[in-house]
Amino acid sequence: MAEEAQILAFPSPQPAPEDRPVLVLDFGGQYSQLIARRVREARVYSELVSHRLTAAQIRARNPLALILSGGPASVYAEGAPQLDTAVLELGIPTLGICYGMQLMARDLGGTVESNDVSEYGKADAELGESVLFHDLPIEQVVWMSHRDSVTAPPPGARVTAASPSTPIAAFEDESRGLYGVQFHPEVVHTPDGQQILKNFLYEVAGAPPSWTPAAVIEEQVERIRAQVGSEQVICGLSGGVDSAVAALLVYKAVGDQLTCVFVDHGLMRANEAEQVVETFGGHFHVPLVHVRAEERFLSRLAGVTDPETKRKIIGEEFIRVFEEEARKIGDARFLVQGTLYSDVIESGGDEGIAAKIKSHHNVGGLPADMRMELVEPLRLLFKDEVRRVGEELGMPERLVWRQPFPGPGLAIRIIGDVTEERLDILRAADAVLQEEIRRAGLYRDLWQSFAVLPAIKSVGVQGDERTYAYPVVIRAVTSEDAMTADWARIPYDVLESISNRIINEVPGVNRVALDLSSKPPATIEWE
Ligand code: XMP
Repeated sequence: MAEEAQILAFPSPQPAPEDRPVLVLDFGGQYSQLIARRVREARVYSELVSHRLTAAQIRARNPLALILSGGPASVYAEGAPQLDTAVLELGIPTLGICYGMQLMARDLGGTVESNDVSEYGKADAELGESVLFHDLPIEQVVWMSHRDSVTAPPPGARVTAASPSTPIAAFEDESRGLYGVQFHPEVVHTPDGQQILKNFLYEVAGAPPSWTPAAVIEEQVERIRAQVGSEQVICGLSGGVDSAVAALLVYKAVGDQLTCVFVDHGLMRANEAEQVVETFGGHFHVPLVHVRAEERFLSRLAGVTDPETKRKIIGEEFIRVFEEEARKIGDARFLVQGTLYSDVIESGGDEGIAAKIKSHHNVGGLPADMRMELVEPLRLLFKDEVRRVGEELGMPERLVWRQPFPGPGLAIRIIGDVTEERLDILRAADAVLQEEIRRAGLYRDLWQSFAVLPAIKSVGVQGDERTYAYPVVIRAVTSEDAMTADWARIPYDVLESISNRIINEVPGVNRVALDLSSKPPATIEWE
């Protein structure tokens, strides 16, 4: 009651969630990014930062809470990532997970010892009294992945969970706001893990669940306005969800100061170009230049069979066309780019997160000699958040949930020569595949599903006629992030309809094959 009265008496504007992040300190664990995502799923803004940040740097960010991630090393190993121990004196609520817990234990005067065998997989834990475990059943299944264990908690800390092989599965020093768990609450194999994270965020750290798509939009619109002022802005649309959401955010912020350029290279899937034009030009009334450049691209691709050469040609031509159009538009000072938070992290991050190896293949990247300033309204967002922002902005379901599609388009799904005829065959086969996958309700479960046209022909028979025609390969994968992928177990009856329909409806195809390769060693795309 008292609290309520106070809120009514002092209606102060909410600070932006980004002003007070939850910082996830990355000690190199495989789940670090996932922790940041889980925190955001609890609607609390979080950032993944380097474990090398000093206590002063961390304090300067004014975080609501800290989470120390897991890591592959032993805390005693030479070169193992360490924590600036002064961080634990800042009075910021801190949760250490796995390696993070062990660092905390050791740095606060407890002990960490190596086990002879590592514990990996599900474990039965018994939870004790703790705000972290508020309202949860005492018996819990948790996910363990460690070799070392905490064998004595730091002075003043209490043990709050145990499993048969890990007697100290959690500890806490409530008075200092320091909590450690040996298991991984961020993975789905710890079924109540998200609740544990929420308890930490809401009850320990008092973090408000204010990171919502609406809040993101409001904040970004303000930032874009502040950055762009009354200048002109250009945005290249690719047909994918990232550039589309970025463009709509900028449009919401500065209206007709934005011009979108959609370079239609003729290598899109069936109806995709029309959908982009209809959505942006027709529905949202965003000023849109639709450049029909199919002939240009096809003539440059004529006779080219090498995958890398195809990519290079398409990338170069794309930039050339884009530049020509940009010049026509005139004096734009800003260029919108759909850079995502995962790109920021993977390219080394804003704060020096250990660089991970990933080749970025962004067609439509900034031409080196175009002196425009970048507007990157998705820089703070993970892919799933981009989609939710897209939904909130009223973008059609088809665009928001579109599976990833490579910049070079169907050209790298046609093995060998890219001709108009072969594009038509692939486009028709792919359209059938998409339709059947959607009809079976599988579209959103699959990371990608598409057709590939090989450069071979085989013998078949249709009616009384002997045929000599192309096979079409079905490629469908599940994946979290495209770094690894598994071939999707599509039900036989769905495969049957896909195959029957492709062979019956697409002239030039007499056979359908299924790609059963995981990544690695195969890649998702064929070229
Ligand atoms: P791979 O085939 O390497 O693909 O397993 C991983 C993810 O990246 C996409 N991909 C591309 N995206 N330009 C892009 O914009 C490209 O040249 C390109 N090549 C692959 C692919 O569709 C998958 O999602």
